[in-house]
Amino acid sequence: MTPVKIVPSVLAADFGRLGEQVQEAEAAGADRFQIDVMDGQFVPNLSMGPAAVAAIRRATRLPLEVHLMIERPERFVALFAQAGADFIQVQVESTLQLHRTVAEILGAGCAAGVVLNPATSIESLREIAAYVSMVNVMTVEPGFGGQRFIPSSPDKIRRIRQMLPALEIEVDGGIDAESAPLAVEAGATVVVAGSSIFGHPGGIGAGLAELRASLG
Ligand code: DX5
Repeated sequence: MTPVKIVPSVLAADFGRLGEQVQEAEAAGADRFQIDVMDGQFVPNLSMGPAAVAAIRRATRLPLEVHLMIERPERFVALFAQAGADFIQVQVESTLQLHRTVAEILGAGCAAGVVLNPATSIESLREIAAYVSMVNVMTVEPGFGGQRFIPSSPDKIRRIRQMLPALEIEVDGGIDAESAPLAVEAGATVVVAGSSIFGHPGGIGAGLAELRASLG
């Protein structure tokens, strides 16, 4: 069985020491990084843009996954691809032209992923799944780090796994040593974690080690 990938979400990092913390997480065994982009419209928060992606690109050799929590993400695909994204994920709720947006991501040379908010039906995956390499299942309402894992998430993950046996399933939000095993047991193959890594009392290495240990 392929080991579960652990993807630190830099939203929870110390922005005053971002490069240093990214390198610490890389050294501690992160598989790639997630960069959360928020526009204050799709989610009630603002975070970072292409310049932050380019800066993180200079700090690590690991793949970068850009999670666009923005309205009409098709407007910014090229900019994030140029900034250094390897994966671009878009929310299925954020565009009326999902097929064209995914084609644009692939055309820009990035791998494409779609993201489902907690209340979005898995049916919205059916027609687009063949064109993407992953689905990110939000296990919190997007917009902020440090929220609690939604308890009904494993059931949703299990139904997606039954629908799409071969697709990479990522989970994102409230992932820690307690919730990660529940998500993986249900069928997740990638876990995104912010606070439980960058906010761990023992430091980033301890956070990653604890998460890895919880997955056996
Ligand atoms: C929430 C983001 C998540 C978040 C995860 O809108 O998409 O990636 O940063 O952070 P934690 O692990 O703290 O919930």
